[in-house]
Amino acid sequence: MKINIIEDKIVLTSLSNENFEIHPLWLRERAKTKTLVDKYNDQRLYDPSQLDQNLKIKKATMNNGHLNIEFTDGVKFEYEVNNLLYEIDKKEPIENIILWNSDFNKKPTAIYENNIFETKAMYDLLQDFYKYGFVIFKNVPTEDNYIVKFANSIGTIRPTNFGESFSVKSVPEPNDLAYTSIALTPHTDNPYRKPIPCIQLLHCLENEVNGGLSTLVDGFAVAEHLKKNHQDIFKILTKTKVRFRFVDKTIILENWGELIELDDNNKVKQVRYSTRLDYVPALEKKELKLFYKARKSIADLYASSKFEIKFKLDKGDLLMMDNHRLLHGRTSYDPNEGKRYLKGCYIDHDSTEGKLRHLERKFDLKWKK
Ligand SMILES: [Fe+2]
Repeated sequence: MKINIIEDKIVLTSLSNENFEIHPLWLRERAKTKTLVDKYNDQRLYDPSQLDQNLKIKKATMNNGHLNIEFTDGVKFEYEVNNLLYEIDKKEPIENIILWNSDFNKKPTAIYENNIFETKAMYDLLQDFYKYGFVIFKNVPTEDNYIVKFANSIGTIRPTNFGESFSVKSVPEPNDLAYTSIALTPHTDNPYRKPIPCIQLLHCLENEVNGGLSTLVDGFAVAEHLKKNHQDIFKILTKTKVRFRFVDKTIILENWGELIELDDNNKVKQVRYSTRLDYVPALEKKELKLFYKARKSIADLYASSKFEIKFKLDKGDLLMMDNHRLLHGRTSYDPNEGKRYLKGCYIDHDSTEGKLRHLERKFDLKWKK
């Protein structure tokens, strides 16, 4: 992709050698002189909708990757061509995702260091997070509630009715099955919330038991498997909206959504799955018959050894996982064997994506082509 000047017009030449003119207003909106944008925050000081609709380019020159433009309203600005191409190419900071199943044996792992959040290593880890849907930090200090500090160093913690963070350990009269020692089948967290938490952090503070293994499933890989091999089932799961519900003494939370949600381009955007909390609407019997069959199929895949990985979290391990893509669970354990204590919290995708873009800028990784 290239930008050229042809008779005072700015022209983009695509990889397939097609030319199209870039609208002068599009360029003018991106001019950043002292009077046009605030020097501290880069935000516009004017309303671009009020610009002359017939604005044209008076003069344009190209020099060493810089494009100098003078517009007919008198504004002159020097653009970095790479910045323009970066935006036109819509290149997101997240590299392509990699689907995995139980053959996946290289869990993305890093040794935690105090200053890790502002390093190139953190950039690579966040890329891994989006590639695989999870990363594990080892040796994270196990002082109680360190997870809050950790989460707020990546972005901003998302408090819920469970608090800023929550303790995953066996307790009497639990308001959620997570706070018991029974096995938890693969699930996504809190599909009843609006919005659904994007990323879950789970920090292992104590793990003295033999059971209680953590399990993960790549929900996008399962969805892809269904799409390829069982179109009919995939279609039902992407069309049927299910109600998810959480009830305790102080609150009733509800949200609706498909078990496999697609985006505008029919790509898998999010999976929801929680057998403890789902309530399909009273559809016609025939339709429900198909839905129940489809739900059984996806449940079997989520629980199958083809897709699930299992591992033990050691003291100090912090698992960061994408709650819109991965399912997690744990095997049962015997609380009489010793302590098992995990601390959890949620953060949003804008935290990680924002951090990724910031690190990309900081280490000048913005333009890699
Ligand atoms: Fe959970």
